[in-house]
Amino acid sequence: MSDIHIPRWLTSDSPGWQITADVIVIGSGVAGLSAAIHARRTGRSVVILTKAQIDEGSTRWAQGGIAAALAEDDSPSEHRDDTITAGAGLCNPQAVEVLVTEGPQAVRDLITLGAIFDLDPSGEISLTREGGHHRDRIAHAGGDATGAEISRALVSAVLTDPGIEIVENALALDLLTDEDGAAQGVTLHVMGSGQRDGIGAALAPAVILTTGGFGQVFGQTTNPYVSTGDGIALALRAGASVADLEFVQFHPTVLWLGPLAKGQQPLVSEAVRGEGARLLDPDLQPFMDSIHELGDLAPRDVVAKEIMKVMRASVSSHVWLDGRMLGADTWVRRFPTILASARSRGIDPVTDLIPVGPAQHYVSGGVVTDLFGRTSIPGLYAAGEVACTGVHGANRLASNSLLEGLVYSRRIMNAIDSDQLVGHPVKADSSQDSFLIPHRVRRDMQSVMDRNAGVLRSEESLTHAQEWLANIERTGARACTEDWESANLFTVSQVLIANALARKETRGSHWREDYPESSTDFEVRLVSHRSPDGELITTTTGIGT
Ligand code: FAD
Ligand code: SIN
Repeated sequence: MSDIHIPRWLTSDSPGWQITADVIVIGSGVAGLSAAIHARRTGRSVVILTKAQIDEGSTRWAQGGIAAALAEDDSPSEHRDDTITAGAGLCNPQAVEVLVTEGPQAVRDLITLGAIFDLDPSGEISLTREGGHHRDRIAHAGGDATGAEISRALVSAVLTDPGIEIVENALALDLLTDEDGAAQGVTLHVMGSGQRDGIGAALAPAVILTTGGFGQVFGQTTNPYVSTGDGIALALRAGASVADLEFVQFHPTVLWLGPLAKGQQPLVSEAVRGEGARLLDPDLQPFMDSIHELGDLAPRDVVAKEIMKVMRASVSSHVWLDGRMLGADTWVRRFPTILASARSRGIDPVTDLIPVGPAQHYVSGGVVTDLFGRTSIPGLYAAGEVACTGVHGANRLASNSLLEGLVYSRRIMNAIDSDQLVGHPVKADSSQDSFLIPHRVRRDMQSVMDRNAGVLRSEESLTHAQEWLANIERTGARACTEDWESANLFTVSQVLIANALARKETRGSHWREDYPESSTDFEVRLVSHRSPDGELITTTTGIGT
């Protein structure tokens, strides 16, 4: 039982136009674009709905690279072991096995499609290291512009396929289902012109959610403005199961821009430490060597927690990253994006220490799927950051998410092939159970989440955030992108907090000050769904085998 009511719909007008296809893909990051390409290989027609421009999303911001056992002296089993260790007891081993065994081929396929990775002097793919990896295993492109290169290659493949229609500025709102509860499409709002303007319906018996993460729940995040948790909230409203939302990853080294900085913050990739940069405390002393055998390259949760401890003990707003030993040539060749970003803010990493601190970066949980991207709603699939395949457990291993997007979006096509989906009429729903949240509360909501549900959490802080959310006035909202997004952020925040309160332990990226140890009682997933009358039901399940 819970006091949380999840309305069935976002408030909007009825659809005034429609578009149909065999497959609707929502989102155009690595997962969505790959899903569309694979759907076309099975001869299906595809419509991609994307809420901004086609290349907008986390994918194009990815820096460090993509992890896969590509080196001769590496193996999927070593990649598996590192992934499972980082996941702090909650990875689904089968899901990890799929990722690490199918990963190397997925990267090679991306190269065949046109993605250009950096090579070493012998002409092999150049590999670097990031937190939690015991081997150099991260392939990168353009130095630190891996996501931009992957996005470029995938976008050009979909743009040249006449069987894929792309609708930009198209915000998916809610799932449409038939009499049997199977997915049959979504409602959406398009800021377009002519016939496709305003509220419409995109209809298909297969709907693939690839809407990315929810970084904008927090005030300080590395995620772009489109990362508002829309897919998770949409799935929840439709009755799908969602899990592990309490496992929010905070990247340890985000460029510190001052106490008032809000919105998307510049990342300083872990690969900078992979190439030799060191973390220093305010007295300019290294502090990670005594904490973990991998020192500065310990798994991300370990480094973020230690940085927070150092900052608290020294009453400091940031720590330092020293990359001066890399030298100008390495900075220019390996990290041109980070170099330009820091220099534009008056910091020269070649000669200066870089002020860094943790900020929201990734969500390990999401819409629960099986090993083929199936959610708990027939015809609704999910891949990429929006999905919870169980690969990441309580803490994602660095550079595993681009890989997960590639591997699991491809597997969805096997499911669609065998699921015998049929297009049926959408069930009419006269329910008044809809809502909106006025966007003017968004900033305050983010600050409340930063302060109370961020890196450090406690019963007191989480209860405060829960009560604050419960008291948000819902008047003054109007059906527009900002208010629909705010409603999604609100829903995701409610579930995140409920899970974080229920998980009375510290594990992976979930850090409870009042329960500092991991507990065997919590070697489980917290899985939530909406009951037919709108109640949020949360149960515990095993982690899979
Ligand atoms: P995204 O790439 O975020 O795409 C989501 C898409 O959905 C977007 O097109 C968005 O516009 C669209 N969308 C969202 N809501 C709606 C809606 N309601 N209607 C229609 N469209 C919608 N991972 C790695 O593996 N290696 C890295 O080096 C790495 N570096 C990173 C650096 C940064 C700065 C960030 C932010 C993330 C990084 N990550 C990295 C994480 C990784 O980039 C993401 O997890 C991954 O790209 C997610 O891909 P995706 O396709 O699931 O979502
Ligand atoms: C980074 O480059 O540090 C980000 C890698 C990731 O999020 O996987």
